[in-house]
Amino acid sequence: MQLKDSLTNLAPLSDEQQRQLNQALSTLNTQQLVWVSGYLYGLSQSGSQPAAASGTPAAPGGSLTILYGSQTGNAKGVASAIKAQAEARGLPVTLTSMADYKPKQLKKETHLLVVVSTYGEGEPPESAVDLFEQLKKGKVGKLEGLKFAVLGLGDSSYEFFCQTGKDFDGLLTKAGADRVHELASLDVDYQEAAKAWGEQAVNAIATTLSAGSASSSVTSAVQQAVGHSQYDKANPFPARLSLNQKITGRDSAKDIRHVEISLEASGITYQPGDALGVWFDNDADLVGEVLALAGRSGDEATAHGSLREVLTRHLELTRLHGGFITGLAELSDNAALKDLAGDKAQVNALVASAQVVDVLKRFPTPLSAEQLIGLLRPLTPRLYSIASAQSEVEEEVHLTVAVVRYPQEDGTVRSGAASSYLADRLAEDAEVRVFVEHNDNFRLPANPDTPVIMVGPGTGIAPFRAFMQEREAQDASGKNWLFFGNPHFTQDFLYQLEWQRYVKSGLLSKVSLAFSRDQANKIYVQDRLREAGLELYQWLEAGAHFYVCGDANHMAKDVQEALLDVIAEHGHKSREEAEEYLSELRRAKRYQRDVY
Ligand SMILES: Cc1cc2nc3c(=O)[nH]c(=O)nc-3n(C[C@H](O)[C@H](O)[C@H](O)COP(=O)(O)OP(=O)(O)OC[C@H]3O[C@@H](n4cnc5c(N)ncnc54)[C@H](O)[C@@H]3O)c2cc1C
Ligand SMILES: NC(=O)c1ccc[n+]([C@@H]2O[C@H](COP(=O)([O-])OP(=O)(O)OC[C@H]3O[C@@H](n4cnc5c(N)ncnc54)[C@H](OP(=O)(O)O)[C@@H]3O)[C@@H](O)[C@H]2O)c1
Ligand SMILES: Cc1cc2nc3c(=O)[nH]c(=O)nc-3n(C[C@H](O)[C@H](O)[C@H](O)COP(=O)(O)O)c2cc1C
Repeated sequence: MQLKDSLTNLAPLSDEQQRQLNQALSTLNTQQLVWVSGYLYGLSQSGSQPAAASGTPAAPGGSLTILYGSQTGNAKGVASAIKAQAEARGLPVTLTSMADYKPKQLKKETHLLVVVSTYGEGEPPESAVDLFEQLKKGKVGKLEGLKFAVLGLGDSSYEFFCQTGKDFDGLLTKAGADRVHELASLDVDYQEAAKAWGEQAVNAIATTLSAGSASSSVTSAVQQAVGHSQYDKANPFPARLSLNQKITGRDSAKDIRHVEISLEASGITYQPGDALGVWFDNDADLVGEVLALAGRSGDEATAHGSLREVLTRHLELTRLHGGFITGLAELSDNAALKDLAGDKAQVNALVASAQVVDVLKRFPTPLSAEQLIGLLRPLTPRLYSIASAQSEVEEEVHLTVAVVRYPQEDGTVRSGAASSYLADRLAEDAEVRVFVEHNDNFRLPANPDTPVIMVGPGTGIAPFRAFMQEREAQDASGKNWLFFGNPHFTQDFLYQLEWQRYVKSGLLSKVSLAFSRDQANKIYVQDRLREAGLELYQWLEAGAHFYVCGDANHMAKDVQEALLDVIAEHGHKSREEAEEYLSELRRAKRYQRDVY
């Protein structure tokens, strides 16, 4: 305060210079004023001039760290774009995946932007779990002085919309950090809003951060991404479907397909652990039904072709979201629909059980083309864990796809859009638009001698088929142990002959099977983990990596519980010590999950 007051009497400055200086200093707090005084003293001693204004005010030092927690690449993409925005402002910036970040480092940060998605039932993505847990348990200490802002990505068709972004925002505030820009909770059509938020957040950060040299650093993950193929989500490769084969038995309750896609001449490369993104067309009959219920012919012209084309290629019809129901209620005179839309629990229940067409059937509402388009969200490609290794299949990519089909109350069977497209609507040799979504958080150990434990019931088996192909090609000497489960041995033993061949050749050291419905009581993979607890613990102590793939909501949670029990029992540890052991495994990238 004294420094500011004294400025009014500074003789060497003109009136205009005094006015400008007073104006600039009026925005600074005490700490910043102290820094400015030192900065000006240093400048006067060095005899140099301050850098010409570049739009970034000179202010207290520090640097910006952008942390992303991402599973399918969206948050990573947004974080990379914000890094570019910060660099354009000349800010010193580091971009890091939460998976590669030591939680204790948080105390040393000055400016932080967090970009994080949400999974499961409002949970962090795999790569964010450790940092999230450490923050939640208060283990990173006080973060006073840290300036931060959080952007959460999510999907409003889930009950716990953007929960992890909200939680990070709350936890950082609780730790004493200072929010410099408001929390964003962005839905599936996040691109424009993310760009605008990035600009605003970088502006807010820039006011408290000095322009740096362009010496920003990036994580290996992002550096690797730069070297990837020209094809991505926005620019998919027009590949060819070469095989679509049902691999569950005639009497199975499940329809699971082994799908092979040719990537010939694409130059696309992938690694075991990556996923394939698949763009799809909605079912023509479903599009026709929606058009009829809305009272439209489909021939209406729009900016992206006819209304029928837009519904087929560009808009989501099978994944309902709350906004469709509340938006329709606003356009409708139907009192029952208005009542339902005002009750969040009923909206959530409908979202979880029905599709757009079912809502229109129940609440018939004539809609203009514009109204219909306004109620729907952009179509998003689906991801499938890659079930092959290029060392084995070269320019092909294999998938294991469970076809989603479920009945409505009126007896109609509804299908999942992408899985039924691959299984029923895509002819052999037809074009399918694909891209690779790299996942550096689900990788085989770098050392081929390291033992590997794989838990993959149902379609969770997919990446482990890729792992085995790769380990065989590497001639890897590390032991391999597979846990697989599905309803019936005779109907649902996916890729049975291949596992038998690997057992025979010695590549697969152990297979533990859990066919859930072959006996009176359900048996699941976690029961097999517990039964083999001692040996499992010995493998972990010998350095094994532990992988889980498949259902996130039930299986992956139960498997984690079983793993904790095994560690506690056979490692003679308390629950807390077992949790710490598992956290260490996660930090060492020896506990990796690809769950959905
Ligand atoms: C990283 C990752 C990897 C994946 N790997 C695989 C894989 O290897 N194999 C695989 O098969 N899938 C995998 N999936 C899932 C896959 O991406 C799709 O979500 C799945 O195929 C369903 O998509 P769809 O378009 O067919 O169904 P959608 O059109 O998305 O329909 C699904 C909708 O139907 C609803 N629904 C589903 N079942 C029911 C029901 N019983 N009752 C009422 N409503 C229901 C759901 O609420 C959901 O909104 C993976 C997902 C991720 C994120
Ligand atoms: N929307 C849903 O409600 C729902 C439910 C399940 C799966 N899915 C999704 O459907 C897709 C394909 O699933 P999928 O057919 O490959 O496999 P899956 O449905 O996960 O089933 C594979 C095996 O896991 C068993 N299982 C069920 N609950 C389990 C638990 N808590 N712990 C361990 N094992 C358990 C199943 O047994 P039983 O079936 O005999 O119990 C079956 O034997 C995945 O995306 C999955 O996430 C969605
Ligand atoms: C299996 C699964 C579960 C999800 N659960 C939620 C959820 O509970 N809440 C939410 O807001 N979004 C949820 N989402 C949506 C994702 O957060 C959203 O797609 C996000 O853009 C993904 O970002 P990422 O690619 O960086 O992981 C879920 C997505 C998937 C595939």
